[in-house]
Amino acid sequence: MAQINPSILSADFARLAEEAEAVRGSDWLHVDVMDNHFVPNLTLGVPIVESLARATDTPLDCHLMIEDPDRWAPQYVEAGAGSVTFHVEAAAAPVRLAREIRAKGARASMALKPGTPIEPFEDLLPELDMLLIMTVEPGFGGQAFLDIMLPKIRRTRELIDKHGLELWLQVDGGVSAGTIERCAEAGADVFVAGSAVYGAEDPAEAVAKLRALADAATADAWWACAH
Ligand code: DX5
Ligand code: ZN
Repeated sequence: MAQINPSILSADFARLAEEAEAVRGSDWLHVDVMDNHFVPNLTLGVPIVESLARATDTPLDCHLMIEDPDRWAPQYVEAGAGSVTFHVEAAAAPVRLAREIRAKGARASMALKPGTPIEPFEDLLPELDMLLIMTVEPGFGGQAFLDIMLPKIRRTRELIDKHGLELWLQVDGGVSAGTIERCAEAGADVFVAGSAVYGAEDPAEAVAKLRALADAATADAWWACAH
């Protein structure tokens, strides 16, 4: 079944616990950490992740859009994140970092910006629990989905199948009722949605609708039929 991860970047930061509650039943809460260096925007850090982890039963999927993830990512595991994603463009030693995240007890995930190809990282995939393909330039919610990322999603799914990996393939950026089916068809199975969830009148209903669309598209997809 498709996993839907609402991004709290589009939520009300003064009411995070209630905003988490508003999407109860989601698989994960997606938490965007930005440092105003790796991306031109600033959001939140370890103390807020710590508080949010205590305030909700939904596991936290922390997406670190920061410089020096080698230094900071382990602290997000300690803060209570169930999954920690670092950007490969920022990591000095991605394999060592993925191993450290796993050793500390979280799922290890690596993100690629739109301009970063997947092919150089084929041998590294077994070290990961999830790969995140950005479908917008990281930094802001509410941007338009980049269709030209679909072939990269497809090629990544082929690599996952080729190596027989249990690797989740996440997409983030511009995912909505209008684009989620294309992502699922191409091979994604974890979907981040910010504005499409928190911009809706009923966020929980928006999650359910996105999940239904993704599940239906997956059922007919080339990659899921082979499984
Ligand atoms: C953007 C963030 C996303 C953002 C997505 O850099 O990584 O998680 O919240 O927002 P939407 O779904 O509105 O594109
Ligand atoms: Zn994100």
